[in-house]
Parts: sequence; structure tokens; C-alpha cells
Amino acid sequence: MNKTNIYQSRRATLAQKIRSKTGGGIAIITTAPEVSRNRDSEFPYRHDSDFFYLTGFEEPGATLILQVDQSNHEAHLFCRPKDLEKEIWDGIRLGPEAVPAALGLNFAYSNHEIDSKLAELLADQDAIYVRLAESAEADRRLRHWMKTVRQQIRAGVDAPTQFHDVEALLHEMRLFKDAHEIETMRRAAAISARAHIRAMQVCQPGMREYQLEAELLHEFRNSGSQSVAYNSIVATGANACILHYRAGSNELRNGELCLIDAGCELDGYASDITRTFPVNGKFSSPQRALYDITLAAQEAAIAMTKSGNTFIEPHEAAVKVLTQGLLDEGLLKLSELGSLENAIELAAYRRFYMHRTSHWLGMDVHDVGSYREPAVASTTEKPWRILQSGMVITIEPGLYVRPAEDIDMRFWNIGIRIEDDAVISDAGCELISRGVPVKAEEIEALMKR
Ligand code: GLY
Ligand code: MN
Ligand code: MN
Repeated sequence: MNKTNIYQSRRATLAQKIRSKTGGGIAIITTAPEVSRNRDSEFPYRHDSDFFYLTGFEEPGATLILQVDQSNHEAHLFCRPKDLEKEIWDGIRLGPEAVPAALGLNFAYSNHEIDSKLAELLADQDAIYVRLAESAEADRRLRHWMKTVRQQIRAGVDAPTQFHDVEALLHEMRLFKDAHEIETMRRAAAISARAHIRAMQVCQPGMREYQLEAELLHEFRNSGSQSVAYNSIVATGANACILHYRAGSNELRNGELCLIDAGCELDGYASDITRTFPVNGKFSSPQRALYDITLAAQEAAIAMTKSGNTFIEPHEAAVKVLTQGLLDEGLLKLSELGSLENAIELAAYRRFYMHRTSHWLGMDVHDVGSYREPAVASTTEKPWRILQSGMVITIEPGLYVRPAEDIDMRFWNIGIRIEDDAVISDAGCELISRGVPVKAEEIEALMKR
């Protein structure tokens, strides 16, 4: 399938979902706004994921309208008009004349026409599909269009009466990656794995966190990735126990660990990898003990990551191994907790492991899609989502030990996370981020000069 066909087919699927729900309607999906950073300078532009998923169009200032009836659908795109003066300063625009052929859409117009065209398109439609509570600006535009349609009521035009959340339909689609998406995610993960290798190989005591971040960015951009998928975490020593720490200016010290959580975005798709390694290339004995527990927890989670299992089963498997490890190392006290089962029941591990093991991964690093199945008819309880082929999740257990009087000092300030990206298949899962070593001895071998 060529790229245009991929987006056409996604629009057809969304149209079918709209048809099944309300017999037809109009979906409105706008791309992300440009955001000013400071005077005359903008944050790097990143399209909206839902909009891109349906169009493949990366320019700002664009809106997709999908008009769906009982048997047909048509795609209309509003975009920035060609403008020689603006294009000299800010870059080439595709322009509405070229859009239909380039993107495989039915109609394209300049943004100047959006108000009058929307009033036409919404006339006599019953159902509108929008992103509910998206932004004040989206609400303002919709109010304006609705007002214009309502003003025609005496001319016999009916205004829409139903608003539906288009995200609910779209995000369910995005949860299942097609072959093209999985291939892109494999390439993104391979680049990120190389970046982690590069950081480990150049790391030595005396360097600063931001210098390792620079190595990651070099590999990302040099490999053709457009951006980071999220701000890189490069955390040494005690900083590794701060879950959302950014790469700062701390010195990498002999004897400490360095935790890197970094992934590139490639062609709109995220990767998300964490590795933890010793700054001097050799794990100390307490570091190694906690590292091996975390890795064993990850392996236990991986074994449970397969279609048919629920989303929570890998997490539960990781928690069991982490809790047993914490009891073995005396970080949790069997004398106080009584048994492994009781320790888990009391969630005693949360002091050292305070996040879940997985999240969906895709266009967004914390990707969209419900983590629950629909409620079981007889109860209000929604069971955890059943994993299915084509879903992509991270598997990322960790242990974070902050200093405290009741904790053996040897473990103080050790923060470890190990994170890989897994494509669910019927046979189990494919770890697409394992281009970077994960076993302690393999990491030590890589860092040996
Ligand atoms: N890098 C963000 C996360 O691991 O969830
Ligand atoms: Mn993650
Ligand atoms: Mn991560």
C-alpha cells in the first residue's frame, strides 16, 4: 500500500465507524497550533497525531473535515494558501491546489474559506464528531459555525443536534498498529538503541549529564530522526530517583549509576528506551543486586506480554519479582510483612517502585487508547484491556531507593529502570528496542575500553 492509500483507508475506517454509530455525520479534526517560545521564535512545530494519522500532512494551520453519509464519505482539507512572500521566509506550502492529488483527498480549500464552507457542510447534518473540550479556540470556532447554521433556520436549514467524541473512535483505531506503523517503530527503536550505545561508550567520570544528552541527540538527528519523542532523561546518582528528571548539568561521578530514558521520534512515531549503567563501567555489588532484580522483573513481565493476557498481567509479574527481590535484600522486612503475598497485597513495593510497568506506545510516547475493556454487563467494573496482536507497549520496571534511616546505606540513591518496547503478537511479543544490551555483563563489556 502506498502512503496515500494508508491515510485513505484510515479515513474510510473512521467513516464506517461514524456510519455505524449515527448513520453519518461530520468529523472535524484540526492539526496542532504553532506555539511561540519567546520573541520571534517558535517551538519546533509538531503536527497533531490524530490529524496526521488521517492525512499524513505535516504543515500547521490545517483542518480535516470528513463528511459521511449512509453509503459514501468525502474528505475536505482546509490549509494555508500559497503565499510567495510568506514562503520565502517560512518555507514552501503545499497549498489547496496541490492537496487533493498529493494527499488523495476529495477537496481542498484555503483557510480563508473555512467559515463559509463549514456553514454549508454542517447544514442539515445531525451529528458532529469533534474532540470534546479540545481548546478554547476550537470551541470558539465551532460556536461560530453553529451560530451561522442556526441563523439559516427560517430558510429551512436544520443545525446539528448531536455532538460526539471523535477521539473515542480514532484512538481505538490508533491502538492497533498496522504493518507500516510497526516497521516505522522498529526503525525508530533501532536508532534509539544506537544512541544509548553511543552514550554508554563515551561515558566516563567527570562528564556532565548534558554531554551524554548531546551524544543521544547526535545519533537521533544523524540517523534522520526529526525529534526526540520526549525530553531526554539523563540522571546520575540521586537524580535517577526523580522519575521525570531532565538531563541537567550534574557531573557523572565514579561509583554512581547513570539512568538514561531517551527515545527518538521518527516519521511521527515514538520510541522509548531506558538503560541504567555504571558511570565507571563496572556495577558495584549493591548496584548489581538491584539491577539483576529489575532485569528479572522485566523478563517476568516480558513472559506475560502476549495476546490474550490482560494489560495488567505483565505489571503483576514484575511486581512479584521486585517484591521478592526487595525482601531478599532486606529493603522490605519479611519480619514485618509476613509473606510475599502479604507484601504485594499491602503494595509495600510502592516505596521503591511507584509507577506502572507499561503504557501504550505509538505516535505519542504515552499513546492513546483505553486501558480497559467495556464494562461487564452485570457490573460497572471495567476489566483491564486484553492484549492483542498489533498493540505496542513499553515494559519498564524500576527500583528507586531514596535515603532513609531504615534502609541500608549501601543502597541509598540507587535508581534503576530498564525499559524496552514490545510489539504484541499471537506468539508473544517482539522486543524492538533490544539493539542496546540489557544484561549487566553485556553493558560492562560494551563500556570496557
Ligand atoms: N519516557 C517516558 C516513559 O517512560 O514513560
Ligand atoms: Mn515509557
Ligand atoms: Mn521512558
